Amino acid sequence: MVYNVRLIVLVLTGFLSLDVHAQISFDFNNQVEDLLNKMTLEEKVGQMTQITLEVLSKTKEDKGSLHTLEEVKLKQALIDYHVGSILNVWDASFHLEHWQRVITDIQDVATKETRLGIPIIYGIDAVHGHHYLRNATIFPHNLALAATWDIKHVKTSNKITALETRASGVPWNFSPVLDVARNPLWSRFFETFGEDTYLVTEMGRAATLGLQGDSTDLQPGIVAATAKHFIGYSAPLTGKDRTPAWIPEGVLREYFLPPFKATIDAGIKTIMVNSAEINGVPVHSSHSLLTGLLRDELGFKGVVVTDWEDVIKLHKVHRVAATEKEAVKIAVLAGIDISMTPFTLTFYDYLVELVREGEISEDRIDESVRRILKLKFDMGLFDNPYPNPELAEGVAQASSHKASLAAAQDAMTLLKNDQDLLPLSKQASILLTGPGAASLPPLYGGWSYTWQGVEESFYPKNTHNLLQAMRALLGKNLVKYEPGVSYSESIDISAAVAAAKNVDVVVVAIAEKPAVEQPGIIESLDLPEAQLQLVKALQSTGKPVVLVLMENRPRIIREIEKNSQAILMAYLPGMFGAEAIVDVLFGDVNPNGKLPFTYPRYSGSLENYDYKGSEQQTFADTWTAYNPQWPFGYGLSYTTYKYSHLKLDKAEMYPDDVLNVSVTVTNTGERAGKESIQLYVSDLFASVTPAVKKLRRFTKISLEPGESKTVEFELRKEDLSFIGRNNKPVLEPGGFEIKVGKLKSGFVVKATEENSFWGKLLGG
Ligand code: BGC
Repeated sequence: MVYNVRLIVLVLTGFLSLDVHAQISFDFNNQVEDLLNKMTLEEKVGQMTQITLEVLSKTKEDKGSLHTLEEVKLKQALIDYHVGSILNVWDASFHLEHWQRVITDIQDVATKETRLGIPIIYGIDAVHGHHYLRNATIFPHNLALAATWDIKHVKTSNKITALETRASGVPWNFSPVLDVARNPLWSRFFETFGEDTYLVTEMGRAATLGLQGDSTDLQPGIVAATAKHFIGYSAPLTGKDRTPAWIPEGVLREYFLPPFKATIDAGIKTIMVNSAEINGVPVHSSHSLLTGLLRDELGFKGVVVTDWEDVIKLHKVHRVAATEKEAVKIAVLAGIDISMTPFTLTFYDYLVELVREGEISEDRIDESVRRILKLKFDMGLFDNPYPNPELAEGVAQASSHKASLAAAQDAMTLLKNDQDLLPLSKQASILLTGPGAASLPPLYGGWSYTWQGVEESFYPKNTHNLLQAMRALLGKNLVKYEPGVSYSESIDISAAVAAAKNVDVVVVAIAEKPAVEQPGIIESLDLPEAQLQLVKALQSTGKPVVLVLMENRPRIIREIEKNSQAILMAYLPGMFGAEAIVDVLFGDVNPNGKLPFTYPRYSGSLENYDYKGSEQQTFADTWTAYNPQWPFGYGLSYTTYKYSHLKLDKAEMYPDDVLNVSVTVTNTGERAGKESIQLYVSDLFASVTPAVKKLRRFTKISLEPGESKTVEFELRKEDLSFIGRNNKPVLEPGGFEIKVGKLKSGFVVKATEENSFWGKLLGG
C-alpha cells in the first residue's frame, strides 16, 4: 500500500514537471519562430557567423596592453553583417571590469542598434577555470582532475568556472574536451581526461553538469558547455596535432563516441567539430558524421560550431574544396551551424550568395538559426544580455581556492618511493632545482592567461611557485635553490651539483614548457637532454633524489628513474599546485592520485592499457608490448590497502540481468588515506578481439587506519558489451572475468537467440 502511494506521487510529479517543461519549450519555440519569420536571409546568415574579438579591436600598442574595441569595426560587423557571435581574447587576459565593459559595449550595439536587437552570444575557452580572467580561480588541467578519480572535483571545478565565466558576461564555454587520449605524443594530451573511454565519459558528463547546472531551469551562474572536438581528434596517426587519423567505424564507436553520447544525453548545448580528417575525410565536410551520426543517430539538437578557421581550411589545407565558396557549401550541407571564421566575413558573403543561387536552401539556414536562437533564449540572453553584477562577488572566493587546492592534492600521484623516502622531514635541508622550481607557467600549463600560457607577467602575483611554497613551509634557510637547467638548455649544472653536497635531499622539478595545439607538437617523447643531464649529475652525488614531474604528457624518464628514490607526478596542477606538491612531499597530504594513462617506458612503445591479446606474445620468454614505466591506474600511498571478499551475486547471467559486485577494502597502514577502487572486466573470447581488460567502474573512498569499507557496483549489458563486427553493440555469450585490485572472479553470460555471433554465423 505504502509502495502504491509513493508510486502515485512520483507519477503525478512526473506529469507536473513534464507539463511545465513542455510549456517552457512551447514558449521558446514560439518566440524562436516569431523571430525567425521576421529575419532577412542576411540576418540569418549573420547569426551563423562567429568572429574573434581581435578583428573588432584597435591595434594594440604593445603586447601586454589590453585591447579596446573599435566602434567602427564593431558596428560594421554587427549592423552591416549581422554577426551573431564573438569569441576569444587577443593575446591578453582581462580584469573583471574590463570583461564587463567589453561585453556591455558589444551588447549595447547588438541589442540597441541592430534592426531586431538580437543579443550576441560570446564564447570563450575556460578549460581549467576562466583562464582569460586575471584573478580567476585556476584549476588543475583535466588530466590531473582525471588522476583524482573523483568526479566531485570535476563537477565542482566546472561549476566555479561557469560562475566566474558568466560573471564576466560570457555565457558560453568551449569545454569540456572529450577526446580520448590514445596517443601521448599529442600536444593536447593534458587537456583530456586520459586514455580510457569510460573514465573520459564519466568525467565529461560531470564537467557538463558542472558547467550547465543539473536542472533544466536557467540559473544565474551557468554557461552553455561545448563537447569538443567531435570526433576522433585525439588519434592522429603521427601524434601531431591536426594531422590525419585513420579510424574504422567500429573503433570510432568503441573508443571515441561514448563520451559524446553521454554528454548529449546529459543535455549538452553545443558541440565543436574536430579540425582534422578521419580516413581522408575532414570532419567539417562529413555529412555522415555531423548529420547522420550526430543528429539522426545521437539525436543532438543543439548548436554545432566549427573549430578555428576550419571552413576555409577545407579549401586551403585539406583541399577537398576547389574554392572557399565551395568549402562553405560543403560545411553547411554537412551540418555545421556556426562558423568560427574567425578573422574574415567571407563565410557570410559566400553563404548569402549560395542561398540566392539556390545551392543551399533557406530551410537549411533556418534549421541552424533556430538552434542558435534557441541557445540564446536558453541562456537567458533575450531577458538580459549584460553581465550580471551580482555574480561578481562569487569570483575568486576562498571556497573556490580551497576547491582548486583540494583537487590538486587529490591529483598528486606517487609513482615511486624507495625505502619510504617520502614523506620528507620538515627539518630536512633541501636543494630544489630544475625548470619547474621557480616559475609559475609549468604549474599552470597552456591555456593560462594567454593561449600558450607562457606570458608570466600576466600571472597572479599572489600565487606561489614551488620554491616559494617550499620556503613558506620550511623557511628560507632549509631550502637552497639552483636553476640547473631551463626546459631544454643547461644553465649551471655544476652549481646545482655543488649545492647538492650540503643538503639532505635533492628535489628536481622536471618540467615541460607550456604549449597548446600546433605549437605543442614534439618530435619525440624523450625528456630534453639538459634535464636528463641535470638529474644524472645530481644522482652521482649520492644524495637521495626526488623527481617532481610537471608535464603536458608523459615524457620518457627511463634513464633517470632507476637512481631516483622517489617520483611524484604533479601533472599541470594549477594555481595551488605548488602547495599540493609540498603537502605531499612533506606528509601533510597522503597521496591518492592514480595515473589516468599509461606512462610509457620507451618512446617507441606506446601501447594503451586495454591492449589486445596479440600485443602480449612472448618471444624468447621476454617480450610483451605492454611494459610501461607505470601502468594505467597506478599510484602509491603512504598507507597500505588490502582488498578482500570480491563477490559476484551470480555465476551466470542473461544479457538483461544485472550483475552485482562487491569488494571490501581495508586500510592496513598507519595513516588515513583515500583509495580509488577500479573495477575492470575482461571478456575472455569475443568475435572482435577483446581487450585484455577494460575499466567499467570506479569510485573513491576514504579510510581511517584499520577501517574497512565494502563497495558495491552494478554491471549491466551496456557495461559488458562491445562494438561488434556489424558496428553495433553486442554482448556475446561466454566467460568474463572481473578484476578489482589483485582479486579476480569469473561469470558466464548465457546464450540467447540474439547474442550468439558464431552460433549464427556457423548456423548453430
Ligand atoms: C581549438 C579549440 C578552441 C578554439 C577557440 C581552436 O584552435 O582547437 O579547442 O576552442 O581554438 O579558441
